[in-house]
Amino acid sequence: MTPAQGGSHPGFARGRRLRSTPALRRLTAQTRVAPADLVLPVFVKEGITEAQPIGSMPGVVQHTVDSLRKAAHEAAEAGIGGLILFGVPAEKDEVGSQADAADGIVNVALRELRADLGDELVLMADLCLCEYTSHGHCGVVTPAGVVDNDPTLDRYASVAIAQAQAGAHVIAPSGMMDGQVAAIRRALDSRAFTETPILAYAAKYASGFYGPFREAAEGAPRFGDRSTYQMDPPNADEALREVRQDLAEGADAVMVKPALPYLDIVARVADAVDVPVSAYQVSGEYAMVEAAARNGWIDRERAILETLTAIRRAGAGQVLTYWAVEAARLLR
Ligand code: PBG
Repeated sequence: MTPAQGGSHPGFARGRRLRSTPALRRLTAQTRVAPADLVLPVFVKEGITEAQPIGSMPGVVQHTVDSLRKAAHEAAEAGIGGLILFGVPAEKDEVGSQADAADGIVNVALRELRADLGDELVLMADLCLCEYTSHGHCGVVTPAGVVDNDPTLDRYASVAIAQAQAGAHVIAPSGMMDGQVAAIRRALDSRAFTETPILAYAAKYASGFYGPFREAAEGAPRFGDRSTYQMDPPNADEALREVRQDLAEGADAVMVKPALPYLDIVARVADAVDVPVSAYQVSGEYAMVEAAARNGWIDRERAILETLTAIRRAGAGQVLTYWAVEAARLLR
């Protein structure tokens, strides 16, 4: 008998031994995705009477407050960790007034969901101005068309208070202004929201993968792009600097965004910090898989679970994903 036919063969290791049955693979899986790790991004739009489909994100809708309430109950039922809310107001202006108006759509929705669900799901409020400004930028803009950092911080501080008052459990600033976490922390503390955590979109890249979201949130910039405030895709060390800075300013948890094209960043951040690290699987990541699946080019459910596993494997504890509820059901 030659060694290749069996018997002792010191020349190679038999990695296949632990892959031979589904039960063995399940037992030895190093990474698991649990429904509780998943956060569902949702859009709530003012002035519509029925949920509206989003063309570039099949299966995702712009909600009415009522349809959102129903979706939130389904999400709780599925056992996911939480929701992150984006508001789409009927009226936009230069400074994004509807973001912090008490009767602004996102604050109305937060109040209703909190009253309805209590603490059953973690309700996160995305804090940005781009869905609320007429120009579509994430901050206030000078006459010369520059996004003006420090005046924007005052707006963010006010929005944070409005969202906390409306019932948000977590404030998640995504505008990538310098000093935004410190400004928001100070504002929350000044109004006795000392216990409201901040999840900082710390390493948020200027990404082509946000395209479908801009249809969903109706927040595409009317001029220019976001490259002067969001991070440049070639940079990795800078992500660690942004994360450290946000933690120094008082962030309780940090996020990397997008997820799949930035798994190296997720891994480095997860190694570097001892706070929860989230990754946002963004609209373009969703749309790619949905489009390929529609063409019969990819096994949709398998691809969904594989991407979520990869993001967790890279080191993210929580994953924001438009598939949160469906994935939670698949994982059960
Ligand atoms: C901006 C914001 C964006 C996303 C979340 N928050 C878009 C942007 O920066 O242009 C993108 C999310 C996605 O693509 O799914 N506040």
